[in-house]
Amino acid sequence: MHKIFDSILDAVGDTPLIRLNSVTAGLKCTVYAKAEFLNPGGSIKDRIAMHMIDQAEKRGDLKPGGTIIEGTSGNTGAGLAMVAALRGYRTIFVLPDKQSEEKRAALRAWGARVLVTPTNVEPEDPRSYYSVAARLVAETPNSFYANQYHNPDNPDAHVYSTGPELYKQLDGKLDVVIAGLGTGGTVTGMGRYLKSQNDAIQMVGVDPVGSLYFDYFHTGQLTQPHTYVVEGIGEDFLPTTMDFQYVDDVIRVNDKECFLMTRRLVREEGLFCGASSGAAVAGALKYLKRHDREDLVAVVILPDGGSRYLSKVFNDKWMEEGGYLRPELRLGTVGELRGPRDQRELVHVAPSATIIEVIGTMKLHSISQVPVVADGKLVGMLSEKRLLEKALEGSRGDVQVSDVVEAAYTTVDDITEIAVLTELFKRFKVAVVLDDAGAPVDIITRIDLIDYISRVTTSGQGGSQ
Ligand SMILES: Cc1ncc(COP(=O)(O)O)c(C=O)c1O
Repeated sequence: MHKIFDSILDAVGDTPLIRLNSVTAGLKCTVYAKAEFLNPGGSIKDRIAMHMIDQAEKRGDLKPGGTIIEGTSGNTGAGLAMVAALRGYRTIFVLPDKQSEEKRAALRAWGARVLVTPTNVEPEDPRSYYSVAARLVAETPNSFYANQYHNPDNPDAHVYSTGPELYKQLDGKLDVVIAGLGTGGTVTGMGRYLKSQNDAIQMVGVDPVGSLYFDYFHTGQLTQPHTYVVEGIGEDFLPTTMDFQYVDDVIRVNDKECFLMTRRLVREEGLFCGASSGAAVAGALKYLKRHDREDLVAVVILPDGGSRYLSKVFNDKWMEEGGYLRPELRLGTVGELRGPRDQRELVHVAPSATIIEVIGTMKLHSISQVPVVADGKLVGMLSEKRLLEKALEGSRGDVQVSDVVEAAYTTVDDITEIAVLTELFKRFKVAVVLDDAGAPVDIITRIDLIDYISRVTTSGQGGSQ
């Protein structure tokens, strides 16, 4: 078939599936990468840009000569700028400073205005890219805020384009789709379409350490987010475009895993993709090791290309300075740290317990923190420190635990690598271990980790990876 188009916009979508052959060594299943970096604007976001603009025009939200504004991590900007170039709109983008210089330069090349804002501020801070974008919209006449984090046309684009396209490509013969979670549009929209065709299709999200999706999916609680380096995925708030109803599992990856896998995808598979593609594949391999079988067909979404990351993941100096090339001791997993389980039950308290009762429980078991559990699910942690603060405020014993639970914890499971746990412990003092059903079964503190590391390194179990 000859592809002759009326405009570049007709070249959006219809991306190929490319079988992964090398990084999947050892797996029995078939894994295809959906090469979204082959979209003309360079990423999967071309699809949402087209749909958001089409719908805004239909609704009359975007009028001729208008200005499109977006707080974007770059790719959505490229898509919007491309559509805007063809349809005569102006574009202004607000980017957090952790985004690569190449991304900013690419947006300017499309004719866009780019404003850079600090990454390390709360979303509510007036300097945050969310706030700056919202202010620009208010101040610019005839402007349209694309708002990919809260615009239902973002997930809808994947309901109408990416989902059906993938289903058709494989004649419906697919079992699992794995994709990074940013706005959640990809996973939510594809999940909505694919599950409407076959509800057995599993949707798996990949989340970087530091983002809140992993803990939120597994516990329903919002834990403290912190910064990480990989771009395009993970969030520090819950966008309304992310609907966990369509998500069956969330896998966590750290920066180093993302970057090393990105380099392998280029060198071993020839796929010149960006770091969130490495993240998706690293997460996919973790998931597939647990669910591997001969007849399983998995698809991993590779959202964008490598050229926007030349100064980062493909720059050896940058990789070395970040410690991403340092060989690591193989320290095993949380399951190995915990060792053979005895029948001991995790000490916990109910949200309806009073402070006095919790103090009694802590004394009885000589523990300094205790998980709060309702209906088998974790709702938070209570620490000696928090109880002391409450006591100093003069709270009476009948104050309920639900009023003082803290979010200063993270969750792990038995397959979480010790390397990931170590990174989590730079921020969190305690990790709650969840079983496959998401029920809390154990807690691990920094001292448990130190004790484990000193045991494995002195007994010579650790080796170079
Ligand atoms: C490079 C990259 N990868 C992945 C994603 C995540 O996709 P989604 O926002 O649909 O969850 C994004 C979105 O910002 C991105 O820019």
